[in-house]
Amino acid sequence: MGKLAFVIFGVTGDLTRRKLMPALYELAKSNNLPAPLTIIGFARRDWTHEMMVDNLTRGLSEFSRTKPIDMEIATRLFSGARYIHSSFEDDAGYDEINRLIQEEGFENVLYYLATPPDSYKAIIQRIGKNCAHAADKKWTRIVIEKPYGNDLETARELEDEVHKVFNENQIYRIDHYLGKDTVQNILVFRFANGIFEPLWNRNYVDHVQITVAETVGIGNRAGYYERSGVIRDIFQNHMLQLLALTAMDAPSAFNADAVRDEKVKVLRTLRPIRGEEVINETFRAQYVSGMIGNERVPGYKEEPNVSATSTTETYLAMRLFVENWRWSGVPFYMRSAKRMPSRFTEIAIQFKQLPLSLFNWRNLAGDAPNVLVLKLQPDEGITLSFGAKSPGHINQITPVQMEFGYCETFGLEPPEAYERLLLDSIIGDATLFTRTDEVLTQWEFASAIIDSWVAHPIKILPVYEAGTWGPPGADEFIQKHRRKWRQPEIQDSQC
Ligand code: BG6
Repeated sequence: MGKLAFVIFGVTGDLTRRKLMPALYELAKSNNLPAPLTIIGFARRDWTHEMMVDNLTRGLSEFSRTKPIDMEIATRLFSGARYIHSSFEDDAGYDEINRLIQEEGFENVLYYLATPPDSYKAIIQRIGKNCAHAADKKWTRIVIEKPYGNDLETARELEDEVHKVFNENQIYRIDHYLGKDTVQNILVFRFANGIFEPLWNRNYVDHVQITVAETVGIGNRAGYYERSGVIRDIFQNHMLQLLALTAMDAPSAFNADAVRDEKVKVLRTLRPIRGEEVINETFRAQYVSGMIGNERVPGYKEEPNVSATSTTETYLAMRLFVENWRWSGVPFYMRSAKRMPSRFTEIAIQFKQLPLSLFNWRNLAGDAPNVLVLKLQPDEGITLSFGAKSPGHINQITPVQMEFGYCETFGLEPPEAYERLLLDSIIGDATLFTRTDEVLTQWEFASAIIDSWVAHPIKILPVYEAGTWGPPGADEFIQKHRRKWRQPEIQDSQC
């Protein structure tokens, strides 16, 4: 692979410092970068090349996965790095990119949009107008961060713009959840093993629970979060991707199109939640001040720049149905929230009740003891629960677990999602990026819910104290179907 220009729009922002540079650094350190690359930073701040490199190097010291950083590798990573100080609407900035690409003989170009989304259109249009690409290069690609649109309509508009300049195979839409090792392991677990797949359907599965619980609040992101809420921030992208990976059929091959074909089929079979159905099938709430560990944290409305009358949800629960032969009638309960007591992301497959109870003993393992849990983070692993006879003369069945832990087995934590995603965007593997039809189908589903919320507003948004598992209504939401939310089993990782 020839010389690569890695052009980052929004190089002065948090994402570049916290995620992109540490990921490139780890790839460089492990000798996984397939080509020499030069960083060309582009942003509005009045910085020089030196200021940019200095800032990014300090970012590495703070955020890289392996510390302390090796200065030799950092220096190599930033050698030849350039900073272009320009507004995103100014053609001159793009001419400068073009000049660098031509004069320094870059063969491949990767454009990375790490800016707020309201700049995407301007940037894409100007790349199209001013920057040489495709014809005289080996390859040109664009990586686009979320949020990819704000609803179905704006996502379609963005699609139109980006497709005027790039072909689908040049477009890499990021959903960083797909870069997580444990998320990729969903497919490995399902399709590299023979014994689970025969059970993975409506004949054996009672329901599925997908949880993304976070302890963090919204920090200083009110401007974005107020317009987004859980539905746009987590549900439309990360959670629907987790659901698609859990519910999809085996792809015909493990390549970008085959995998994405199967995911999109699941997304298309989601039963839409429309009109008054949103009242029963979704549940929203907002956090008020409470304790996270030993620290009192402010309520959502007290966060900087949040409106005192905000009705943005920070807790969202939903019941979905995948209407196909495999899953018909099996509810998928989804829940995500900020300011929960602990951070955990997991997919739990709850198997059905026993047909009859053979042992006339005390069954502490319950009527449906079999749960398979894919623990995505933190404490990454997989557990299968079942009932076992307790030792001794008293006949008693107790819940026990077979357990696989990443850290205990492999002795290390999985790498950061961005390492894998950046590498794949450089080598040209789009399997872990969302395709146009996926992103639009996800929006179609989420937008219908958002529209129905607007049409059927709730009078009072329930609240929950930060550091609790949500308001009573959250439990009632699932209990009305005689099921209950799982509590996390957090163990301290040994890595
Ligand atoms: C981001 C959301 O996409 O994902 C954040 O914008 C959220 O609000 C984050 O905190 C969660 O990601 P992770 O990798 O920490 O689970």
